[in-house]
Amino acid sequence: MSLAGEFPRSRLRRLRSDAWVRALVRETVLRPADLIWPVFVVEGNDVAQPIASLPGQYRYSLDRLVPELERAAELGIPLVALFPVTEPSKKSADGREATNPKNLVCRAIRTVKEALPELGVMADVALDPFTTHGHDGLLDEATGEVRNDETVAVLVEQALVQAQAGCDVLGPSDMMDGRVRAIRVALEAKGHKHTKIMAYSAKYASALYGPFRDAVGSQGNLAGKGKHTYQQDPANREEALREAALDVAEGADMIMVKPGGFYLDVIHVLKQELRMPTFAYHVSGEYAMIHAAAQNGWLDGDGAMYEALLSHKRAGADGILTYAARDIAATL
Ligand code: PBG
Repeated sequence: MSLAGEFPRSRLRRLRSDAWVRALVRETVLRPADLIWPVFVVEGNDVAQPIASLPGQYRYSLDRLVPELERAAELGIPLVALFPVTEPSKKSADGREATNPKNLVCRAIRTVKEALPELGVMADVALDPFTTHGHDGLLDEATGEVRNDETVAVLVEQALVQAQAGCDVLGPSDMMDGRVRAIRVALEAKGHKHTKIMAYSAKYASALYGPFRDAVGSQGNLAGKGKHTYQQDPANREEALREAALDVAEGADMIMVKPGGFYLDVIHVLKQELRMPTFAYHVSGEYAMIHAAAQNGWLDGDGAMYEALLSHKRAGADGILTYAARDIAATL
């Protein structure tokens, strides 16, 4: 059987002739409810610092955060992801601030859940915002290796303080082995039955995270070293299936691919094979590229952003973390 009839009985342009018919046969729809907005928080009062490499995005103090999130909720965005900018004096080699129940992200979670109880709140589980070296885990001083099992023990504590603060969705973004199981076991033991885990399952060692590292100041002395011993090789797709299947077996409720737009094949295969709620992170570098080109007048920024996000859904994503969430939601 051929997929299309023969010309001229079949003219595929017939169904493209008018807006109404294009709307009728449209296969993929982008809705505000598909969008998750990542937002940066800082200490202080009345602060909204623009982030140069993420045009239109700011670091907000807690008092300024709530009205911004309220607008996002009004636009129909169901979930926001909070990222703390840790003061340099609170960073250490072991990232201990991550487990402080009164740290900035825990205070932010409490503030938001109190002010906007209906809005979902997500936070990362990883040590990079808190470590002086910028890695997601504990370093072996002698070898420079990121220590897996020792890190997982700290991540469990971090997950618990965030759950205790009222975090709805935990996002382990560290890529340590075995962390989803350890976090799930601890959540169950402490009675956090409804705390969801969205695992950064297929997180690649990407060159596209630069603006994010500027935004949270997690560059540390990573320069040149990268995270290739724990994040995935961009060359690998089958490995992503193993990573995601493991996370599901360990207790993840949702899986994620990151970055998104360069990895649409990975999104597609994970959705096809695992049939899980599957998300993608349209990361800082992807957002920045579109804005930079638009600022130069080289392309239509809004159009390119919409197309990029729609493509994630066409590939199989149920939703997308994107800095453009609020801007795009306002246009839908
Ligand atoms: C931390 C983390 C990173 C991002 C989200 N969580 C950066 C990294 O792994 O270095 C990147 C997000 C983005 O670039 O938008 N583990």
